[in-house]
Amino acid sequence: MMRSYIRGIGSYVPPKVVTNGDLSKLMSTTDDWIRIRTGIEERRYAEEGVYCSDLAKEAVLKAVENAGMEMSEIEFIIFATLSPDHHFPGSACYLQPKLGLDKIGCLDVRNQCTGFLYSLAIADAFIKTGMYKNILVVGAEVHSSALDFTDAGRDVAVLFGDGAAAVIVSGTEDPGRGILHHTLHADGKGARALCLDIWDISRKPYYDETTVNTPMRWPQMNGKIVFKNAVVRLCETLFEFMFKHQINAEEVKYFIPHQANMRINHMVAGQLGLPKEKFLHNMQKYGNTTAASIPLLLDETYRAGLIQPGDLLLLLGFGAGFTWGATLLKW
Ligand code: ACO
Repeated sequence: MMRSYIRGIGSYVPPKVVTNGDLSKLMSTTDDWIRIRTGIEERRYAEEGVYCSDLAKEAVLKAVENAGMEMSEIEFIIFATLSPDHHFPGSACYLQPKLGLDKIGCLDVRNQCTGFLYSLAIADAFIKTGMYKNILVVGAEVHSSALDFTDAGRDVAVLFGDGAAAVIVSGTEDPGRGILHHTLHADGKGARALCLDIWDISRKPYYDETTVNTPMRWPQMNGKIVFKNAVVRLCETLFEFMFKHQINAEEVKYFIPHQANMRINHMVAGQLGLPKEKFLHNMQKYGNTTAASIPLLLDETYRAGLIQPGDLLLLLGFGAGFTWGATLLKW
């Protein structure tokens, strides 16, 4: 049976480091407040003029090199982001020529922090049908241009950072490796708990001088509702997923969770009785990089030499929408 597997992986973060202390000079916040409530210590910000597809390109170059393949072997691009270069066309279309590719299909996935998991499931299905042999899946974000750095936006601004990560998904006949199972979910009733309203097509015109200077131009979040839903949904989904597929926590080498908040991940591990040391984190360094967060952590873990062929990995995420999901794979 044809399975898909991660043939190559790479990530990229912009060089500019912004610490909690740096943010405390812009708004009423402190290193302690951010660190204790979220686990985040610093994040990266792209410079003016840098697009999401630019960060993605750097990650893709590393993934292609890691896969030991030519760029021209990529047959399809799936780009997960909530901070696309422009509202349309999609960022995959902007990325394609930057990679020296043309004509191949390009798809954007707008599923926020679960975007990478949804994209991986789509790539997996395309590979299994035999439609493509090598698919590029990339998650990338430039959040730093769309954050309110005044006191009014401090609850959101301190959480997010910029970054990108990419994988090459390819087919294999090897029964000892590959993507094994996915579970994908959404609850659109939670859409208003975390959203950006500035583009509102019900207004005529959708955007004008009366809307540009309102809070609508910044992401709005009800942090407590997001927090509670993240814990509840991840716990119930992980429990069902592990039960359905008879996954024993001992067999899982690492849980690679979305990097939104250390307390969310510790609560999920704690409530399910999963070993906290297997739940990996790098949000201390990057904050929440949304669609890039899971593959960025996966890449760092892999490059640190912690993942060996045959290791069982469980990826999980929750984000705006609400959307959430999990993927089990054998490296
Ligand atoms: N610095 C200092 N004080 C702050 C800050 C800040 N950056 N932000 C808010 N505060 C204040 C609030 O105004 C409030 O003040 P008050 O008591 O005078 O009213 C106080 O701190 C407590 O605020 P709470 O909202 O009650 O703080 P809470 O403990 O809930 O933590 C947080 C807030 C960190 C945002 C938390 O709710 C959270 O992490 N929620 C999940 C958010 C998340 O993960 N979002 C992304 C997931 S989806 C995705 O990734 C796209």
